[in-house]
Amino acid sequence: MLQEFVHEPTSQLAIEPGVIDLSWGHVDPQLLPAVALQSAALAALARPGAIALGYGHERGSAMLRAWLAERITRHEGRAPRPAELMLTGGTSSAIDQVCTLLTQPGDVVLVESPTYHLAVRILRDHPLELWPVPRDAAGIDPAVVAHLLHRAAATGRRVAFLYTVPTFHNPTGSSLTPACREALLALAARERLLILEDDAYRDLSFAGPAPASLWSGDAADTVVRLGSFAKTVAPALRLGWMTGPSALVGRIAACGTLDSGGAASFFSGMMVAEYCAAGEYERQVARLVAAYRARAAALVTALTPVLLPGMRVQPPAGGFFVWLELPHGFPLAALGRAAAAQQVAVLDGARFHVHPAERPALRMAFSLYDVPDLLEGVARLGRAFARLNEVME
Ligand SMILES: Cc1ncc(COP(=O)(O)O)c(C=O)c1O
Repeated sequence: MLQEFVHEPTSQLAIEPGVIDLSWGHVDPQLLPAVALQSAALAALARPGAIALGYGHERGSAMLRAWLAERITRHEGRAPRPAELMLTGGTSSAIDQVCTLLTQPGDVVLVESPTYHLAVRILRDHPLELWPVPRDAAGIDPAVVAHLLHRAAATGRRVAFLYTVPTFHNPTGSSLTPACREALLALAARERLLILEDDAYRDLSFAGPAPASLWSGDAADTVVRLGSFAKTVAPALRLGWMTGPSALVGRIAACGTLDSGGAASFFSGMMVAEYCAAGEYERQVARLVAAYRARAAALVTALTPVLLPGMRVQPPAGGFFVWLELPHGFPLAALGRAAAAQQVAVLDGARFHVHPAERPALRMAFSLYDVPDLLEGVARLGRAFARLNEVME
């Protein structure tokens, strides 16, 4: 090996030895289904054989699309037609494709705030202007969205779409209420507003079925919903899917990149088709839900007694994250130093806002660590809070 590559990193994950780093919303490697995927890869190579190694149809493995369509219909009560469904190279890549193919330079994109910070990075790779829509525990206020749409119309601006993570939100863990979903859909239908629904965490619901997707209630062809296999099977597959109006899905399926290169992550799709057909998907989701439910509960239970006055935490009903609201004026920089001294890390909530946040907050991920490490992380954070409290008094 060339010497200068010896220390080149292979994983995105980089954690100092000894530190419990709750800032990473990554999957615990122990929960990745390596053995079942090995069998699925062999099956994909053995059964369809050479097809699985060729250029795939632009919409991806037909077997996996059929499996998804059946499962979506069963869970969501709406059956996507073949023209309304395609596989993607994961949600990140699909957001980028939507921006490339469905926006024009100078368009406005409405973005809930706080929101998934790395989606904001993707949006910012394009010549778009981002207008924040405040998000709280109930969701986003359709009246604010309507106001922004009118402001855009009055100033001759085109609004390309609204980006939202309605279910088991990254970073807050919250979900839009049914009333909020209904009002948003009515507004979108009335104003012809496209909603980009990032549905990455839908299957990681801790208590019963997840709230209905916006897509499932969309009777007016205004929602493109993005699903992902990254959180439920494995991020490295770079595989997801999209349901939406046939014209928009068709525009994406007909793009030059897929015409030239065939389906995104085609072999991953062929492999996951076998994985799902073998019943592994439902087994894996059940295993993940049990693990993440226990971790979320342990994290929130342990946090509660170490919180300082004015701090507030909401137990999440699904997903990867706990959001800790801090009192106004809380010295975040000092907390960062106190936490570093205790060898624990959390993420500053300001990162998730499109514009400066009103109220300081922290995001903690419970996806990467098992319960004992989470408890140790909270104990360290509690010591950092206590140290800070002494200094503030
Ligand atoms: C809300 C949300 N959307 C999308 C992604 C990334 O999806 P993918 O891995 O399918 O690109 C993440 C990952 O953290 C996420 O939290």
